[in-house]
Amino acid sequence: MIAVQAFSVLSPLVAPLAMLGFVIAAMALPLQTGRADMDHDASAQGGILPQLSAEHLAAAVTEPLIVFDQTATVVHANAAAISIFGSITAGMSLPLKFRAPEMQALIEDMLTGGVSSLAIDYVEKLPVERVYRVSASAIGHGTGLYVLVFKDQSEARRIDRMRADFIANASHEMRTPLASISGFIETLRGPARNDPAAREQFLQIMQNQAGRMARLIDDLLSLSRLEMKSFHRSGVRVDLRNVVESVIDSLAPLAKDSGLEIERNFADGALEVPGDRDELYQVFENLLENACKYGQSGERVIVSIAPSTKGPEPGIDVTIRDFGPGIAEEHIPRVTERFYRVDVETSRSQKGTGLGLSIVKHILTRHNGRLSIESELGKGAAFTVHLPTN
Ligand SMILES: Nc1ncnc2c1ncn2[C@@H]1O[C@H](COP(=O)(O)OP(=O)(O)OP(=O)(O)O)[C@@H](O)[C@H]1O
Ligand SMILES: [Mg+2]
Repeated sequence: MIAVQAFSVLSPLVAPLAMLGFVIAAMALPLQTGRADMDHDASAQGGILPQLSAEHLAAAVTEPLIVFDQTATVVHANAAAISIFGSITAGMSLPLKFRAPEMQALIEDMLTGGVSSLAIDYVEKLPVERVYRVSASAIGHGTGLYVLVFKDQSEARRIDRMRADFIANASHEMRTPLASISGFIETLRGPARNDPAAREQFLQIMQNQAGRMARLIDDLLSLSRLEMKSFHRSGVRVDLRNVVESVIDSLAPLAKDSGLEIERNFADGALEVPGDRDELYQVFENLLENACKYGQSGERVIVSIAPSTKGPEPGIDVTIRDFGPGIAEEHIPRVTERFYRVDVETSRSQKGTGLGLSIVKHILTRHNGRLSIESELGKGAAFTVHLPTN
């Protein structure tokens, strides 16, 4: 308090700010140190904190912070507040700066309500939409000063929305085969009860739909396992030639059924990268399976492995190129999104879940790798996996 008195002789603004310093120091200390009580006592007894400028303390707070008085006039705004909300100077009217009704109500309630703190959600529309949780608190007791702190909630909101979309998509994908199975059960109990040929056909459809649900669940589990597991660089090196060769072997029956020839174009020498063999297997399996499913009409698929020539770091590129219908430019950036399919019916008829490429992308990120997609409509698509060798 002595420090506050001494400062107040110098400037009318310093006193309230020094008061703010006490409040911030009192709030910040228990959060920042395990010896909260001891340090708190030290500051109250005239340790180093009361001598710190409140302005410096406010500047050290990374969230926008505005101090105002009983007449809703700005006393101080920290650098974060100015950089986000533009010019805010001492003496400015706070309700004129923040005209949104919820902000007006917050300020009004704070000044007249006799409560020590309040919070609202506030949306800034420009230049980009951002959502803030704004809390207003009285500073100390009877100081006539208040502080607004803005916490940016935009990222948390975006994640919430993504989660909600994901659940909606996943349930929709589950509901479709389930509805089909329920429908056939009814038919089998009713009109088709005594029709062995129809019964056989419907049971086959039901089996396919059940298979689709099982695949969907496998893919969802695979994604969530990848998200849960942090990636440890084990130092194990994976021979890409060997992995790709076994993927080609396992998909040979699909290629044959689709009337496709798989051509190999592997460079000589070591083609090894650090990584997880099973995960990389999954990457090439997804890509080659897509090439066979969607690029069927092109009659051939070329799989090449070569040291990469582009990019700053040494690496290996694996390219899977088909000569099918290709992917239109506007869809290319979106095909790695969960559940995104260019043509839902074609994908469903090919037993797709729309999760394959999002799994690929996830695995590559864990390997510091990249996926690039090049395609021209009518001429096919090339998916290149770039993996660093170190
Ligand atoms: N080689 C390709 N040629 C043309 N379109 C492709 C090709 N690869 C992928 N696509 C398009 O991208 C979409 C997403 O592919 P992704 O592998 O993520 O899902 P999917 O194949 O439908 O299902 P899943 O891989 O889970 O079985 C596909 O539905 C398809 O529309
Ligand atoms: Mg796929």
